[in-house]
Amino acid sequence: MTAGARAPAAPVTLYQLSDDPYPALARLRASAPVCWFEEIGMWMVTRREDVVAVLRDPERFTTEHPRSPIGDIFGRQMLSLDGDPQKRVKAACILPFSKREVAERWRSVVEAKVDRLLLALEWRGAADLRRTVSGPLSVASVGAVLGIPEEFHPTVLEWYERFSRALANFTADPEARIQGQVAASEFRLAMRPLLERAARDPSGGLFATLVHAADRLSDEEILSNALIILFGGIETTDATIANTVWALLTHPDALAWARSTEGGWAAVVEESLRWEPAVQSCTRYAKAGVTLAGVEIAAGDPLQCMIGAANRDPAHFDDPDRFDVRRVNAGDHLSFGIGRHLCLGAHLAREEAIATLPKLFERLDGLRLDPERPTRPAGYEFRKPPELPVRWKPRR
Ligand code: HEM
Repeated sequence: MTAGARAPAAPVTLYQLSDDPYPALARLRASAPVCWFEEIGMWMVTRREDVVAVLRDPERFTTEHPRSPIGDIFGRQMLSLDGDPQKRVKAACILPFSKREVAERWRSVVEAKVDRLLLALEWRGAADLRRTVSGPLSVASVGAVLGIPEEFHPTVLEWYERFSRALANFTADPEARIQGQVAASEFRLAMRPLLERAARDPSGGLFATLVHAADRLSDEEILSNALIILFGGIETTDATIANTVWALLTHPDALAWARSTEGGWAAVVEESLRWEPAVQSCTRYAKAGVTLAGVEIAAGDPLQCMIGAANRDPAHFDDPDRFDVRRVNAGDHLSFGIGRHLCLGAHLAREEAIATLPKLFERLDGLRLDPERPTRPAGYEFRKPPELPVRWKPRR
């Protein structure tokens, strides 16, 4: 960082941003919208217009960088590439994630999984909803689209843990990095037989689509992109469902409105994505020296585009800290990113949340947060309640 001497330093700590980021982000947005965050060695960008400008400008701000931890762990895949190579691999993967395919092919799979999870739960009267509903649903949904059999799901979660630690490795712990790389190698090894099977059976999931595509990706490309899809689709969706349930249980008026209004659940999901985004930042690297909001950024410097700050920018959203399910422009949130790297799984993630919420509140009668195990969303990079303990009237 060569421009640091001229740059305002962020008067915030990682702890504040993990615990309750929004007051600190509001201060930064108002006083130093582009500032250097020494604790993690990155620029923070907090105004919505600047975040959009960076994410929509791959000529000046790229994801392709030797320091990118995502590239380091998952190899060359769509999120670590830019330009034509990124377009090529994303285009190859996009079909099963389209709005139409999600509605026609995956909706019934997702709904059936929600039904099975609730059937196993409704008699109990108390549970952690992350471990029993949102977590297993997100693994099953991504697994179905990729064509990974259910028997692999516990191992997928184990790999996932190691990826998360390696990617949130702000202290550059070498052990966490190595564990992430080992987990990625195990994934590649375990998935090879599935690729071979997909070559014989074109009717399977995304593996089969990719193996039989006209512009066939290499096995290495398929596995690297499967890794980012798997990583992108699990904790994010699990967290979004958990954050939304938490928001509804702490805002009973919003819950009553969702239950009585046509299209209410979809509106709730959009507002929850805006208000408490599961992914709090998108990282980019300056390709050359550049000035952003009057601040000089040096070539190669990393920038964190703070989605949670952009989503609560008062220049775009009225009374932004309020969870307002009737908000007309809630869908302008940046929680799935924007520009070339716009989330591949956004339709699938919405489908999972919208399939879960009405069934959950209908079948778990009197659903409420467990007063003996209070919880709330937390985390810097990924935000969610660490667990979501709830109670309800057990079904007899
Ligand atoms: C509510 C849940 C989700 C959230 C909040 C979320 C968030 C995001 C964000 C913010 C990005 C942009 C990253 C950037 O520009 O740096 C992204 C990209 C991506 N997401 Fe998601 N995601 C979710 C669900 C999913 C699901 C279900 C999948 C797949 C099954 C998925 C796969 C991906 C992939 C592959 C990319 C990279 C796209 C590219 O580089 O072109 N995500 N996601």
